[in-house]
Amino acid sequence: MYNDIHEILFTEEEIFEKVKYLGKQISQDYNKNDEIVVVGVLKGASVFMADLIRQIDIPVYIDFMAVSSYGYSTESSGIVRILKDLDFEIEGRNVLIVEDIIDTGLTLKYLTDNLRSRNVKSLKICTLLDKPERRKCNLDIDYIGFEIPDKFVVGYGIDYCERYRNLPYVAVIKE
Ligand code: IMP
Ligand code: MG
Repeated sequence: MYNDIHEILFTEEEIFEKVKYLGKQISQDYNKNDEIVVVGVLKGASVFMADLIRQIDIPVYIDFMAVSSYGYSTESSGIVRILKDLDFEIEGRNVLIVEDIIDTGLTLKYLTDNLRSRNVKSLKICTLLDKPERRKCNLDIDYIGFEIPDKFVVGYGIDYCERYRNLPYVAVIKE
């Protein structure tokens, strides 16, 4: 499909097992009568979120936000702009942000500060991938699928210049 895949980091099966595990943890950590608003960060988190919500067995609402962070470069600018805001009012609600990958953390730092200021009941973060070496700010992440080294990855929703999102696995591409 693509000729420049260097190395597969996580296979479809490994990701599926991890998503099941995360969904179970999330379901256990909230109260049985809680409802959560799961907020996916477009576009990268869409694939992960679609799988994750089906492993959560408490009632969920879904919503999406779109922010600009990288543009078409692979380096974070640190400047975050909201391109699409939530449809729901989240005041007094339990919000779970779902992200594909946390790198510098600047995007999520901005987003969590922004959503918290709307007086939510609770705010948690779930990310499929985390690059802790690259962090440039303080961020509490509640659920992490896999920690990865400082390599640029694609697949399972994650892109390079909008490509590779349809790969069922997570891979490193050739330089
Ligand atoms: P942060 O603000 O530096 O944490 O950037 C987070 C966003 O950058 C993620 O939501 C991704 O969209 C993008 N990103 C970070 N690392 C990678 C990568 O290795 N591959 C593709 N996108 C990435
Ligand atoms: Mg993203």
